Amino acid sequence: MSNGSITGRTRLAGVVGWPVAHSRSPRLHNEWLRRYGIDGAYLPLPVAPGQLETALRGLQASGFAGVNVTIPHKQDAFALSDVLSPAARRCGAVNTLMFTPDGRLHGDNSDGQGFLDSLRAAGVDPAAGSALLLGAGGAARAIAASLQAEGVAVYLANRTRERADALAALLQDAHNPVRVLDWAARDRALGDQALLVNTTSLGMGDAGLPCSLDGAAPTLVVSDIVYAPRVTPLLAEARARGLATVEGLGMLLHQARVGFAAWFGVDPTVDDSLFDFVSSDRVPGP
Ligand code: ATR
Repeated sequence: MSNGSITGRTRLAGVVGWPVAHSRSPRLHNEWLRRYGIDGAYLPLPVAPGQLETALRGLQASGFAGVNVTIPHKQDAFALSDVLSPAARRCGAVNTLMFTPDGRLHGDNSDGQGFLDSLRAAGVDPAAGSALLLGAGGAARAIAASLQAEGVAVYLANRTRERADALAALLQDAHNPVRVLDWAARDRALGDQALLVNTTSLGMGDAGLPCSLDGAAPTLVVSDIVYAPRVTPLLAEARARGLATVEGLGMLLHQARVGFAAWFGVDPTVDDSLFDFVSSDRVPGP
């Protein structure tokens, strides 16, 4: 626990998901609570599919300040929110909920902001040039929308082209449309890009790299949203070629700042020691 004791004044937050036992968020938030000496606690909250509304009403009625929302509840949380941030609207999904005293649910989505902040914290300008995104799931949507909002030209490639087409249609913007490429064209397209973002599940297992880096410009920045392992095969390959890389753990840490600031009143710092702490399995000391 953050400070060793929970009282009636302890501010409560947590993460709802199914499963949720693997989530790194409790480790992260409770470490921040400890570092800032805040009387608070952040709990893993296993909520089965179909039970989100019941759970949220119960948590709200129990005095929680809010929760993070993870798989499989992000779309349902969007539908249940009374007020939505512009980012949540762009994503069609909510990952951060604030419970207001009048009983309303404020839904936000900090994934895209977390991604941009992780780039900037690594010294990378997200708007340096165009970006190629691989994948067309929820994470791709959040990242594409955030890059688009920065004025970045976004190219999207997904194994199943229809999903990329559907995502591009959702992110419709007459001034800066998302351009869809065939999956087979992704390697060729790389030479013109400033940023590559892997949001596919390729690279977690043995299925090989999500693309070849043979045609990459020497200035390409390679990022991966997978954070276990921290250095994915794609990032290792990029580093071996001397390319700059941004690891996915940064997005996880930076997206969490939004909820922490709203519930506990401090915008927390993400530093190198936090990367090590969150990714290690060491049990926090007494
Ligand atoms: P998210 O978790 O972001 O919502 P997801 O639905 O779990 O995404 O999908 C993971 C991504 O990895 C998808 O873009 C998927 O491509 P498809 O839409 O074609 O399924 C991609 N993916 C998974 N395995 C892949 C493989 N072997 N080759 C190429 N892409 C793959």
